[in-house]
Amino acid sequence: MEKLVSLCKRRGFMFQSSEIYGGINGFWDYGPLGVELKRNIKDAWWRDMVTGHDDLTQLPGAPGSYEMTGLDCTIIMHPQVWKCSGHYDLFHDYMVDCRESKRRYRHDQIQGRWVEAKGKKIFATAGSDSEAPEADLERQALKFFGMRSKNADELKWDGPLASLTTVDDFELVLGPDAKTLGTLTAPREFNLMFKTTIGALGGEADSAFLRPETAQGIFVNFKNVVDSSRVRVPFGIAQVGKSFRNEITPRNFTFRSREFEQMEIEFFCHPDSSAEWYTYWRDRRFKWYLDLGLDEGKLQLRDHDQDELSHYSRGTADVEYAFPFLPEGEFGELEGIAHRGDFDLRSHMEGKLDPATNPLTVELNEDGKPRHRGSGKDLSYRDDLTGERFIPHVIEPSAGADRATLAFLCEAYTEDEAPDDKGKMQSRVVMKLHPRIAPIKAAIFPLVKKDGMPEMAQDLYRTLKKDWNVFYDEKGAVGRRYRRQDEAGTPFCVTVDGDSIQDNTVTIRHRDTLEQWRVKADDLTDELRKLIG
Ligand code: GAP
Repeated sequence: MEKLVSLCKRRGFMFQSSEIYGGINGFWDYGPLGVELKRNIKDAWWRDMVTGHDDLTQLPGAPGSYEMTGLDCTIIMHPQVWKCSGHYDLFHDYMVDCRESKRRYRHDQIQGRWVEAKGKKIFATAGSDSEAPEADLERQALKFFGMRSKNADELKWDGPLASLTTVDDFELVLGPDAKTLGTLTAPREFNLMFKTTIGALGGEADSAFLRPETAQGIFVNFKNVVDSSRVRVPFGIAQVGKSFRNEITPRNFTFRSREFEQMEIEFFCHPDSSAEWYTYWRDRRFKWYLDLGLDEGKLQLRDHDQDELSHYSRGTADVEYAFPFLPEGEFGELEGIAHRGDFDLRSHMEGKLDPATNPLTVELNEDGKPRHRGSGKDLSYRDDLTGERFIPHVIEPSAGADRATLAFLCEAYTEDEAPDDKGKMQSRVVMKLHPRIAPIKAAIFPLVKKDGMPEMAQDLYRTLKKDWNVFYDEKGAVGRRYRRQDEAGTPFCVTVDGDSIQDNTVTIRHRDTLEQWRVKADDLTDELRKLIG
């Protein structure tokens, strides 16, 4: 992972935000290569899910044909949106503060073990950033009990590594960075939404939130989309855009950031077929990552257990990837696919529903009125063929553009060997990105800067530029130029040499196989089109 992080900075995939001021935790910038990579991922998603979708055909695994459409709504919305969605009341993590170290932790991310020595039993802990928690716990316990490492076997450990959430008595807890017991505060709720103020007056009544997900903008526009376009249920509305969460412990590069991009679909269907649509979307979204090059062995589709599901949901599954920063055998979430029933449309219609009620009812305040009032607008749907009126059920495939970018970067990073200019094998770093998402599709090189080669290469560059992001390079030995493109993930290099001037052919070099072959210069665009797909 360290090698990948360093390559990302060196080659301009990603930088820490505001780096010259020391950076800001949980915020990342995409450099010249990174912006192209992330844009290609978002474009591939939009193309595959929305503009390239065939409304007329029943796709494999789908219960029927369906339509797809898009939306782009504002980041700041009416505060009532977040009250009815449940984010205002329920979107929080629990945190604990350490009175000694002044550090703040997520309650569920502190892990520890009970340990006894010198007649005292404590719960020793390690923070979520610990790479070797067992070793850290031993060090911490030895220090606390004033013992030397040669006496480590006198420590009596009781039970396996467990979360702090399993501990009731905090007086017996030794905080991850503390020297004394009982320095952690009781867990406190911490809402993850960023608050801001609208307008110049700035009173509490003017406060609003940066959206923590793009999904709610789709629900509140459901009626607008139905009324303004000719879509019929079943159909999906897609949106790509920034979301913000004030994560307590942002970490693992861009995996958990405070500002990130989501690619979300809300798919509206008849309640009777919603279970089948859920299965379809779950499988379809899993396959999307495989098709773009993630290794099947590192990807898994994990169905949530029945007891993890809300009663109104027929299923939730996560697409997960074995990110290299995770311990062996662990996976991190790339995307969640959830069956949400009619919870969201009804909440925006009637008022915030209490997710614990069955059947769902509006949550009431002390006066028996809705705790958070809905819009009162009718968000039901009338099927004009059958005349049936119903509230559609929703299937929500919700992906993170930054997590997808990170997974594709992790997958692509490869160290192997390639011949240098003299044919001697040298180690190289190569980013084996799928050609569809590679930032630069092809690099064009004149072998040397004379004999008409630069002119011919520049002509080809201008022709290819009409279709793709391509790169012209005439500086340095050709082997070094290849190496630079390998690190950038450029799948094809095209070289113009002495023969090119004579017979109007060029050499294409394949980044991964190192295979080289000649094609007619006039056929180059078609040849690359076949290769890039
Ligand atoms: N509307 C449903 C929803 O937002 P989620 O599981 O909270 O569900 C969906 O988020 C996806 O957004 C995640 O699978 C992940 O890819 C991405 N995501 C969520 N929080 C993130 C964070 N702090 N940093 C980067 N990506 C995040």
